[in-house]
Amino acid sequence: MKKIAHRGISAQAPENTRAAFEKMIEVGAKWLETDIDMTSDGELVLIHDDKVDRTSDSQGFINDMTLAELQEIDFGQWFSNAYGDEKIVTLSWLIDFINKHHLNVNFELKTELKGKRQTDYLTRVHQALSHVTTESKMIVSSFDVDLLAKFHQLMPQIEIGLLFEDKLPDNCVALANLVGATYIHPDVTYLTQEQTKYLIKNNFGVNVWTVNERTTFDRLKRWGVTAIFSDFPTESPN
Ligand code: G3P
Ligand code: MG
Repeated sequence: MKKIAHRGISAQAPENTRAAFEKMIEVGAKWLETDIDMTSDGELVLIHDDKVDRTSDSQGFINDMTLAELQEIDFGQWFSNAYGDEKIVTLSWLIDFINKHHLNVNFELKTELKGKRQTDYLTRVHQALSHVTTESKMIVSSFDVDLLAKFHQLMPQIEIGLLFEDKLPDNCVALANLVGATYIHPDVTYLTQEQTKYLIKNNFGVNVWTVNERTTFDRLKRWGVTAIFSDFPTESPN
């Protein structure tokens, strides 16, 4: 069972920052997950929320701010005073980092953009991801079925995972087939063994988020899931 560092090593460093990604090298983690959104001037950046409020010392919507405005903001001190110099991370920086260290990656398409700006987002993601070398394994995921389907049309060679929050819907396999997904990414809170068996029987890889408890890790391993996303990817047993 693979362990994927959720937003980098986000239990030990502020999520989706250079520090959280660099800590992977220190602890020997090989897979990371991160969330991609876009600034008002079309730069792809790594952030989970649609606003900067929770993970910085400022306020505002990512989609309404320029990269230069974001670079003025501190993204570390909300987590700890030890992280006083963390800036917003660009996708371009992370791809260079992944290529340099031969890391594997799950990029989550995480944006509220619609229409023309969504098309621009997808075009830019497409361009950026074409720079990831073949030495790195890559999965692209999203909760947004429509967005994921559009991405899959642009880059059919990249495996995709459909994310689900809360209980898996009865039509999850149909939806995942519709979009061309290789993986289903269920919410750990509600996943049952029966559902896991059903997904595996339907030939899906099962990547479960977010698993931080050892007992849960052991249970999912017994059930045969493919991977887990964890804030503590190196502290779980192998
Ligand atoms: O991709 C797994 C997980 O990151 C999905 O949920 O809200 O943490 O992006 P979230
Ligand atoms: Mg995510």
